[in-house]
Amino acid sequence: MATRPTPLLSLLCLFTLLFSLAHSELCNPTDKKVLLRIKAALNNPYLLASWNPANDCCDWYCVTCDSTTHCINSLTIFSGKISGQIPAEVGDLPYLETLEFHKLSNLTGPIQPAIAKLKHLSFLRLSWTNLSGPVPDFLSKLKNLTFFDLSFNDLSGYIPPSLSLLPNLNALHLDRNKLTGPIPESFGKFTKVPDLYLSHNQLSGKIPASFANMDFNVIDLSRNKLEGDASVVFGSNKTTQIVDLSRNLLQFDLSKVQFPKSLTSLDLNHNNITGSIPVEMTKLNLQFLNVSYNRLCGQIPVGGKLQSFDNSSYFHNRCLCGSPLPSCK
Ligand SMILES: *[C@@H]1O[C@H](CO)[C@@H](O)[C@H](O)[C@H]1NC(C)=O
Ligand SMILES: *[C@@H]1O[C@H](CO)[C@@H](O)[C@H](O)[C@H]1NC(C)=O
Ligand SMILES: *[C@@H]1O[C@H](CO)[C@@H](O)[C@H](O)[C@H]1NC(C)=O
Ligand SMILES: *[C@@H]1O[C@H](CO)[C@@H](O)[C@H](O)[C@H]1NC(C)=O
Ligand SMILES: *[C@@H]1O[C@H](CO)[C@@H](O)[C@H](O)[C@H]1NC(C)=O
Ligand SMILES: *[C@@H]1O[C@H](CO)[C@@H](O)[C@H](O)[C@H]1NC(C)=O
Ligand SMILES: *[C@@H]1O[C@H](CO)[C@@H](O)[C@H](O)[C@H]1NC(C)=O
Repeated sequence: MATRPTPLLSLLCLFTLLFSLAHSELCNPTDKKVLLRIKAALNNPYLLASWNPANDCCDWYCVTCDSTTHCINSLTIFSGKISGQIPAEVGDLPYLETLEFHKLSNLTGPIQPAIAKLKHLSFLRLSWTNLSGPVPDFLSKLKNLTFFDLSFNDLSGYIPPSLSLLPNLNALHLDRNKLTGPIPESFGKFTKVPDLYLSHNQLSGKIPASFANMDFNVIDLSRNKLEGDASVVFGSNKTTQIVDLSRNLLQFDLSKVQFPKSLTSLDLNHNNITGSIPVEMTKLNLQFLNVSYNRLCGQIPVGGKLQSFDNSSYFHNRCLCGSPLPSCK
């Protein structure tokens, strides 16, 4: 991936590059100093043993350099014995495009505010850690983010509505945290619609009406405390493929939902959904369906994939009947 740094910083980087070439080392010397400070801040973990000042830092583990500027463009730390907080010095690697702290159960504290300085960041993953505190508002300044993953942490508080201002997101993962409050209404206004993963939190309230305008490819809101109508997630002219709304408190009439033709996976189990299964569902090319543990009634329409599922896709409803459940009387 080519970087297009701003001209002034580019020149600075070029100067430091020329300087370092004179010392037959490619790595940007300023970046090298910053990395050594990061290593010290993390108490010199074994994972970073290759970060030896005697060697070219472009050859160190867990980092990569841009091939032309030789500035550090990626810092990827995972599955090591790392304890403590994310060092503020990560904000002093101005050309970072990828920043990842992953599977580090002893990584604690808040999401480091200095990350807001990383204007080139396109990939941010802070996941499977013990980071706590809020999902900070300042992350919405990182306009080049395409991949944003804060899943499997201890984050709490409300989801900042400003995240919908990120114009280039392909995916937004905030699942498996302790987030509370509603899904922001602004999440119906992404300019580029990301795959949205908000499952396993304690989100409450209604699914925003603005979702009627959002054509998510993947939307997973499962295992929250969402209530009310979910039909805004669907719509006959959307191209949505995967919908998981299971284990919420949703209450709406399934007969009135217009499903996108593109739908391949639908999980609605453990809600409070009424009505019956619409005949239109026989026209879908579903690979997965689970509507169990709701209050559905009536005959399961015959056709399409509907009889190919296990009876556990349908059981524990009020009075659903017909194959693969026992026949209607
Ligand atoms: C986390 O910290 C605990 C207590 O200090 C330690 O026993 C454990 O080995 C650490 N685990 C990792 C993966 O660093
Ligand atoms: C996260 O921290 C809590 C204490 O704050 C600790 O009980 C728990 O074991 C940690 N999680 C992991 C995966 O280490
Ligand atoms: C953001 O990404 C675009 C496309 O990859 C690139 O042209 C632009 O220079 C990037 N901006 C920053 C600040 O990195
Ligand atoms: C969906 O299609 C209907 C009629 O085909 C149209 O009136 C409506 O504006 C479309 N909605 C969206 C969100 O594109
Ligand atoms: C389901 O809806 C019924 C009727 O409105 C209500 O009495 C019941 O409390 C709801 N159950 C849940 C789990 O929300
Ligand atoms: C459907 O969901 C219920 C409840 O979680 C589960 O018991 C059942 O095995 C699931 N069936 C399928 C086919 O996923
Ligand atoms: C579901 O299928 C299994 C095995 O075919 C059967 O034992 C069970 O009674 C069925 N349950 C219902 C609710 O139809």
